[in-house]
Amino acid sequence: TPRIFSGIQPSGGLTLGNYLGALKRFVEKQDEGTTPTIYCLVDMHAITVWQDPEKLRHATREAAAGFLAAGIDPKKSILFNQSQVSAHAELGWIFNCVARMGWMGRMTQWKDKAGKNSENASLGLFAYPALMAADILAYKATAVPVGEDQKQHLELTRDIAAKFNNDYGVDFFPMTEPLIEGAATRVMSLRDGTKKMSKSDPSDQSRINLTDDADAIAAKIRKAKTDPEPLPETLDGLRDRPEARNLVNIYAALSGMTAAGVVAEYAGAQFGTFKPALADLAVAKLSPITGEMTRLMQDPAEIDRILGEGADQAEAIARPVLDDVYRITGMIRSR
Ligand code: TYM
Repeated sequence: TPRIFSGIQPSGGLTLGNYLGALKRFVEKQDEGTTPTIYCLVDMHAITVWQDPEKLRHATREAAAGFLAAGIDPKKSILFNQSQVSAHAELGWIFNCVARMGWMGRMTQWKDKAGKNSENASLGLFAYPALMAADILAYKATAVPVGEDQKQHLELTRDIAAKFNNDYGVDFFPMTEPLIEGAATRVMSLRDGTKKMSKSDPSDQSRINLTDDADAIAAKIRKAKTDPEPLPETLDGLRDRPEARNLVNIYAALSGMTAAGVVAEYAGAQFGTFKPALADLAVAKLSPITGEMTRLMQDPAEIDRILGEGADQAEAIARPVLDDVYRITGMIRSR
């Protein structure tokens, strides 16, 4: 049975990259109404690097508020935080025993995050992709909407599913399809068009946060790095202009146009014209979300209630899958 699953780490706030590459598309998938959608705030992934407990709790609620404000409807989608459904950790352990050290060591996110000092990285950071595979496969999810940077992790998820099926001689886990679609699968830093927009970038000017107010959004776009040339006549003219290409992609994703359509509309325009238009568009699309987030954050108990209800629904799907996994792997279940 088709099922869509995806997750976001609630470490720090959500960025425009998270919104355009993931959250906005989660809402679209939900509203298509053809496939059940399950969305998870992966708090256990977040602690693979140190998180202050009070800040993590706050960031998890804030991310949940962001999901709700962006249009995730708990009546249509399951929305919960990972740690409330123990099946994730349980299946994560089984997958730690299926995945190979070599596979994990080749993950670019591991290499980037652990860097040269991998001796001092947490074991959880190394095992991170096995827990991610467990998130997905505890629901036997068939499709996962993500940004470009998660492609390698989703390939590993398929490798783990295939090895499990093969080792135990079963046709149990599906081969999950990544859904990497749209104009903004990789939103770049506003300060450096060769770097991904990221919540961990030390410069706040490099990103737009979902909590930024209208003035901050407009100021960051106005100050975004660009080259001195006007916008080209065709998309081809953006090939060696990463910063310009990025702003065009952001405009396209926010407006629902194609990048080619944006270039056609602004052909020959200077950034002095294009940037204010982009700033207006971004404020028009993001400010209502920011406002609704602020409103929702005034009632944290209601957010926790929604997450708890989502966790109950998620548990109802994942528990029977885990029961099968324990049976397949030879664990005695006598109570
Ligand atoms: P995370 O929390 O880093 O990012 C969440 C989602 O946002 C996308 N994204 C971007 N898309 C476009 N441009 C950007 N600059 C940008 N930055 C982030 C990511 O691709 C992702 O879709 N490992 C995952 C979380 C995770 C998960 C899962 C995802 C855990 N379990 C199961 C899917 C399924 C992560 O760290 O995403």
